[in-house]
Amino acid sequence: MNLEELNRTARALVDNARGILAADESSPTIKKRFDTIGVESTEENRRAYRDMLFTADGIESTISGVILYEETLFQSSADGTPFAKLLADRNIIPGIKVDKGAKPLALCPGETVTEGLDGLRDRLQKYYEAGARFAKWRAVITISDEAPTSTCIDTNAHALARYAALCQEQGIVPIVEPEVIMDGAHDIEVCEEVTRATLSAVFAQLDGQGVELEGMLLKPNMVISGTQCPEQASIEEVAAATVRTLKRHVPAAVPGIVFLSGGQSDELATAHLDAMNRMGPHPWVLSFSYGRALQAAALKAWGGKTENVAAGQRAFAHRAQCNAAAVRAEYSAEMESAA
Ligand code: 13P
Repeated sequence: MNLEELNRTARALVDNARGILAADESSPTIKKRFDTIGVESTEENRRAYRDMLFTADGIESTISGVILYEETLFQSSADGTPFAKLLADRNIIPGIKVDKGAKPLALCPGETVTEGLDGLRDRLQKYYEAGARFAKWRAVITISDEAPTSTCIDTNAHALARYAALCQEQGIVPIVEPEVIMDGAHDIEVCEEVTRATLSAVFAQLDGQGVELEGMLLKPNMVISGTQCPEQASIEEVAAATVRTLKRHVPAAVPGIVFLSGGQSDELATAHLDAMNRMGPHPWVLSFSYGRALQAAALKAWGGKTENVAAGQRAFAHRAQCNAAAVRAEYSAEMESAA
């Protein structure tokens, strides 16, 4: 393992207030997104949509890396340039989602464990050859009256660490993503407790399996009220609870923490990130690795029509700019109306 190279890649993914675009929707997930705009999920439509995002003007100043789905890693831009090369030529690092999804966890009704470890070493070699320099694996922790169980937290933490170790062995920076899901009527204190237990288990497994913290990034949820909770915590409360929990459980050796948006609105995901960075300086860079909160407006503006590509690109570049401003603690609501 070349720790220096891994560390260089990890730091580049959070340099200059840039963040990551998660464009790694699996085929069933991108179909759901396309359904909302009435576009059929064909291989060509998926390619054209991602082509629009990756060729948007100026995004290399706000986007450091893109997480791709396997299909996209082996696709090309309209002019024939492979996406991995197109991105790398723009100083945007290509990444790859390597998990095979969250599957029902035996004997734990309603909970899941993320699969995809079998054959992962060989797949990582293939992805590295295709240009991928970082990877993502998402574990899902749900909150309900019965969940999460310690079985769910521990099995997912173990799998995350096995994945991370394999990535580092192959020269690929692992993004470790334990997502505590927002769905539920629980309040922010419950989310804080579950996030605490999850991060604690994850870092114990990473340590136990020899994963080098300098050569990885963490992609956590924010500590936030459940979607159906009648009392929604304020932006400042979310920022304070999230930073407190991370400071208690994420070692300073981790170069960066890149949040998922998890179903938050575009503007709230940006405002939360900004509020956290206003509390800095922090031991790690706090940035973004959003999927929906970077793409929702662009998807809508595009609507599957070639003549809307420029509008879709503007919408995407605008969200990326707002989030990069939030990394610098310089985001303001005027940035939204100005657009
Ligand atoms: P969201 O920001 O839409 O939650 O997606 C991020 C992601 O990569 C989930 O795995």
